[in-house]
Amino acid sequence: MGQLVIVSNRVGIPEKNVSARAGGLEVAVKATLQDKSGIWFGWSGKVATQTKIATQKVVHDKIAYITLDLSKEDHHEYYNGFTNRVLWPILHYRVDLAEFSRRDLSGYLRVNENFARELHEVLEPDDLIWVHDYHLMPLAKALRRRGHKNRIGFFLHIPCPPPEILTTLPNHERLIPSLCEYDLVGFQTGDDAFNFSRYLTRECGLHSRDFNFVVADRKVRIDVFPVGIETAAFADLARRSVRLPFVQRVITSLVGRALIIGVDRLDYSKGIANRLSAFELFLQTQAQWRGKVTYLQIATKSRTEIPEYAAIEQEIGSAAGRINGAYGEADWTPIRYINRPYSHSTLAGLYRAARVGLVTPLRDGMNLVAKEYIASQNPEDPGVLILSRFAGAAHECKAALLVNPYDPDSVAAAIGQALAMPLAERRDRYDSLFKVLSHNDIQHWAARFLAALEQEPRAASELGEMASLGS
Ligand code: ADP
Ligand code: F6P
Repeated sequence: MGQLVIVSNRVGIPEKNVSARAGGLEVAVKATLQDKSGIWFGWSGKVATQTKIATQKVVHDKIAYITLDLSKEDHHEYYNGFTNRVLWPILHYRVDLAEFSRRDLSGYLRVNENFARELHEVLEPDDLIWVHDYHLMPLAKALRRRGHKNRIGFFLHIPCPPPEILTTLPNHERLIPSLCEYDLVGFQTGDDAFNFSRYLTRECGLHSRDFNFVVADRKVRIDVFPVGIETAAFADLARRSVRLPFVQRVITSLVGRALIIGVDRLDYSKGIANRLSAFELFLQTQAQWRGKVTYLQIATKSRTEIPEYAAIEQEIGSAAGRINGAYGEADWTPIRYINRPYSHSTLAGLYRAARVGLVTPLRDGMNLVAKEYIASQNPEDPGVLILSRFAGAAHECKAALLVNPYDPDSVAAAIGQALAMPLAERRDRYDSLFKVLSHNDIQHWAARFLAALEQEPRAASELGEMASLGS
């Protein structure tokens, strides 16, 4: 095998003075590449000021980070436009928030072409290529057009909705079937894989056997790879981090109150506004807890140039202020609302100090925060995870308190239940959650995906009667 080439929009270039950036993909790929060699290719995170854009290369610990700037136009049309104002909302079931423009679609296709052109310069015939996320759906097609016959895999970190929703995407017939140019298409959950498979059957007339499709003269396999975390390392980090002076100061500042924690990118998919309403209902209906709990919501700003993100920033900031005004006392602030990022070690210490982890996205591909919260707990005296049934993590974390984030009563009731839960039940739930996360950690995830990608596809004759997509 040649080298491993990872391609994603965001690249975790080792940079001085950057200790924390929120976002699951970067965290997952960074952990995957530990102790490996290869290339990580993508956007530098910068918008170019000059017209001629060159690639930049940094080599660090056997990894070559090769990145491109985006032009102002590309940044506007590809990143702020088509990926984050069209694909992101639709794939998160928020058709109502999608703002489509033809111009943004051409920007999206253009950036994918630019990525393919630059990759063409560095790829060797036996390199294994692993492309990540919705920013780069047409990339394999652009590479195949340039003659690359490498094994190319794609992993979608975010949800894949059913065809009834996917088909609301203007030009979906140009974009979604192009995923068939990959050899392996991976999803977070069985539901996501099933939705994609239904799309291929309904819209492209393709039929599969065990999620293996034949498309023209190629074979494509679909499979489920729930992304994990570095479970053992995170548990170890939390054990040490709870002693950090900053974490100790936070614990002291609670003066014995129970800590409830939420940690998210400030994104409408995370359901933070619904969560605040549920917390308000909890304070209203379970008055015995007033003055006895502190809810810390860390919500790092994200995609700030996009109007929908600016709107929720306003909405959530004012909801937190209103609830504090209504329920707070001179010596008690119910909600501590913070927008800054924290390092993973600080987060691990705070998770461990929290009696309740409140993770209630309206829709989420996986949600690594839920897994990090569990990994951080003290096994002797663990906290309780309250988890949205609409997070991919809910498929594995069945021992969490699963809630419907659209139903504030169920979330408020779960907060009360978690706070009052006896130690024996907390331990039982923690033990079974930790076991699942230890088995499917990030190394297991990457190893399974890469092994499946390397595997020779099954012969067409084995797959039985198939329809083909045509050219
Ligand atoms: P998403 O990829 O949608 O942001 P995930 O929960 O899957 O959601 O991943 C978020 C990752 O970013 C986690 O590893 C989490 O620890 C990290 N993160 C989230 N919020 C912060 C923050 N405020 N500071 C630093 N890291 C954060
Ligand atoms: O994990 C989902 C994801 O969309 C990643 O693709 C992305 O890196 C992360 O969330 C954060 O978003 P962004 O890269 O736009 O800041």
